[in-house]
Amino acid sequence: MTVGAGSGVNFEYKGEPLPWDSWATATGLPIYRGHHIEDLRTIELGWWEERQCKAAFIQLSGQEGICEGRVTEIPPGGSLPEMRFGVDELVYVLSGYGATSVSSEGRPAKSFEWQPRSMFVVPRFARRRYANLSGVAPVRLLHYSYFPLALCATPDPEMFFSPTLERPELVYQEGLYADPSQRGLSGDLGGSVEGGDSYWSGNFFPDLGVWDRLEENKGRGAGGLIVRMSFPSSELTTHMSVFPALTYKKAHRHGPGRLIVIPAGEGYSVMWREGKEKVFLPWHEGSVLVPPDRWFHQHFNVGAKPARYLALHPPRMFGGHAEAIEDRKRDQIEYPDEDPIIRDRFEAELTKRGLRSEMPERAYRDRAWSWKPGQKA
Ligand SMILES: [Fe+2]
Repeated sequence: MTVGAGSGVNFEYKGEPLPWDSWATATGLPIYRGHHIEDLRTIELGWWEERQCKAAFIQLSGQEGICEGRVTEIPPGGSLPEMRFGVDELVYVLSGYGATSVSSEGRPAKSFEWQPRSMFVVPRFARRRYANLSGVAPVRLLHYSYFPLALCATPDPEMFFSPTLERPELVYQEGLYADPSQRGLSGDLGGSVEGGDSYWSGNFFPDLGVWDRLEENKGRGAGGLIVRMSFPSSELTTHMSVFPALTYKKAHRHGPGRLIVIPAGEGYSVMWREGKEKVFLPWHEGSVLVPPDRWFHQHFNVGAKPARYLALHPPRMFGGHAEAIEDRKRDQIEYPDEDPIIRDRFEAELTKRGLRSEMPERAYRDRAWSWKPGQKA
């Protein structure tokens, strides 16, 4: 069942579904397509007999067969059967309280507990179990992986669910699921983290709704803050942006495969292919959206509190920036160069809510100026 099929959806290439599309379709589960889903906590799921749970796939335009999004639900007091998966899997907790245990080679499991807005990575090949620790409320998890890419290389799904390989050194590594630690510059990671600043490394981030170890992200405007995250022994990376109430970021564009989920805030995003019509997408906690390949996109906070968005990155070769090779300015629109509809719409949305823009006037006059959170000019 395909839900929300929209324009620009790359379901088929050259008339043939990609291996992941064929596999996901065969499960009979809902596959959500289009540009965004306003609330993953409430979307309709289907029954997945093989996994003994309710689930749905997220394959929005812009995931481009690179990454898989999947929502699973665990009923109150329930747990999912143990399973294995041959690729690294990032899990973001949409709702509920629970625990995960991971093990390898029949050795004792390592367990940890999580809550809404936790994020963790389960290493490839590990045996994993997910349990709901509440007897009242269901759990919803968002899983993100590069499974569609892996299936292009080896179109045999069973190989990834019944792997013969064990990697105990990943499961029993020191500090697995301990507090993240701050690591050096992104250069230390071979450039796999965007930008040139520091990143936090760990397999468990307890609550991205309150994570406060942030640094300035001057280039993208709005006095925004950022944390970049990486995961030991994995190619997965993420970043989270935090930006103040009643402001908006600069429009920019890059490559495909970035799934954006909202841990906190109220706002909307605008996305458009250069020269084409703009699409406006409202969001709040639990929303998800994906900017299609090389589409401009821009994020707006129309709430009274700082907003947060978490971007789950594709493999690093899908960065898609023009920087260095071409002109970075072609990939970012400074405030003075915006289509007037951008500012007008933002101010109209605030007026509807009885609020006023906190965007400094100077931002619209001076392309080179950047400001800190709370700074006015
Ligand atoms: Fe972006």
